[in-house]
Amino acid sequence: MPSPSVSSPMMDAFEVRGRATLSGEVVVSGAKNSALKLLAAALLTEGTTRLERVPDIADVAAMVAVLEHLGVTVDRDGDTLNCSVGPGVGDETPPHLVRQLRASIVVLGPLLARHGRARVAQPGGCDLGNRGIDLHLQGLQQLGATITLEDEAIVAQAPPGGLVAGDFELPYASVGATENLLMAAVCARGTTVIGNAAREPEIVDLAGMLQAMGARITGAGTEEIRVEGVPVEDLRPVTHRVVGDRIEAGTYATAGALCGGPVTVRGVDPSHLRLPLAKLAETGAEVDTEPGAVTVQRTRGLRAVDVATLPFPGFPTDLQPQLTVLLTQAGGVAMVTENVFDGRFRMLDELRKPGADLELQGHHALVRGPSSLRGATVQATDLRAGAALVLAGLVADGVTVVCGASHIERGYADLPGWLCALGGDVRRVGVDVAVPVGAHT
Ligand code: UD1
Repeated sequence: MPSPSVSSPMMDAFEVRGRATLSGEVVVSGAKNSALKLLAAALLTEGTTRLERVPDIADVAAMVAVLEHLGVTVDRDGDTLNCSVGPGVGDETPPHLVRQLRASIVVLGPLLARHGRARVAQPGGCDLGNRGIDLHLQGLQQLGATITLEDEAIVAQAPPGGLVAGDFELPYASVGATENLLMAAVCARGTTVIGNAAREPEIVDLAGMLQAMGARITGAGTEEIRVEGVPVEDLRPVTHRVVGDRIEAGTYATAGALCGGPVTVRGVDPSHLRLPLAKLAETGAEVDTEPGAVTVQRTRGLRAVDVATLPFPGFPTDLQPQLTVLLTQAGGVAMVTENVFDGRFRMLDELRKPGADLELQGHHALVRGPSSLRGATVQATDLRAGAALVLAGLVADGVTVVCGASHIERGYADLPGWLCALGGDVRRVGVDVAVPVGAHT
């Protein structure tokens, strides 16, 4: 008889057979972190915006649900999304959808620009530690918006004549705050200057689409972005192809370094991965680039390298867990410093289960390698940690079960499919997990 205090729900998981040798080619999708913001940007103008190369992932589905709630019709045709925006788009997003996708906070900027008002549910809980939105709100206030915080919602209201341009020096180069501010500023009267702006390729992608729509933007990709406001009626819908996903690409490139290779990753601009590729090369992996592709292989033992995450062009926090797994296979002691999200190191407890030698010291992790990993049941603590644990499973002895596959599916269109195509053995399974009644799974 099962204990009355324990239930056994099925949990989605990836089962990974270890000691894999991977080689072959992967074609990455459009970038998740760009597609989500481009979808929000479609709200700025009436008509049908066509987004090509949109990844088929859960986060995109969640953003589409937010747009649909606002009254936008979204049709998928292969990897193209047609977003038809009518005159009567709403200005409120509901809590259950915003909780599913924190990034949906970026509808605030375009809704304010278009309607002069937005009521967006508070993002609430988070999986990466402290993730504020104070900078988003301060920036919008600088454009004349009045922000009222209610229990469950943020209400933003533009002044009677619409948003007015302003200068805002971001205290930290936040990606989301830069994007929200950029989309709000597109129709603000006058010229807005965003200082210490985020420089990620996804910002350049968003600015490119906004420019094609009729916005006047200079400096995207540098630390100072200038936006000369245009009347909202001057914006028009466009067709835009999403930039390649550098994080997905970096994940497969790291798999190549872990599991022999050569693994060729196509559909990414190698200049978006300069530092991650330099770090792979520093470990001793062989890295070759050509326009639109990267090839990585491992022909000798790996050595430890130190790494610290920083906003672009620094080492991306979204590739830190994957590199940490690689470093468990490198000889020596590596110091990994996480400067962006304090919750990232939650993965370390999971990575210890298969036998990694890790020591946490504040926002530094010491990784001692090489370690012989053995199959274990681990939990994906977030999207990138989940992908990294799958990589760990590929080099472990035996079978690794990574619970929480849905975390990984938020950002990877078909991680098991691509890894199997490279010669790995990764499949989605349901596992029975015994959890105390009432505990969160
Ligand atoms: C985006 C990416 C995420 C990536 C991150 C950093 C999307 C959907 N997500 O997240 O995958 O890891 O960039 O490259 O594009 N912060 C504040 N106040 C704010 C805004 C941010 O304190 O108003 C802090 C956050 O808590 C965090 C840091 O700044 O510690 C970085 O956040 P930010 O650059 O805004 O990342 P996101 O846009 O949330």
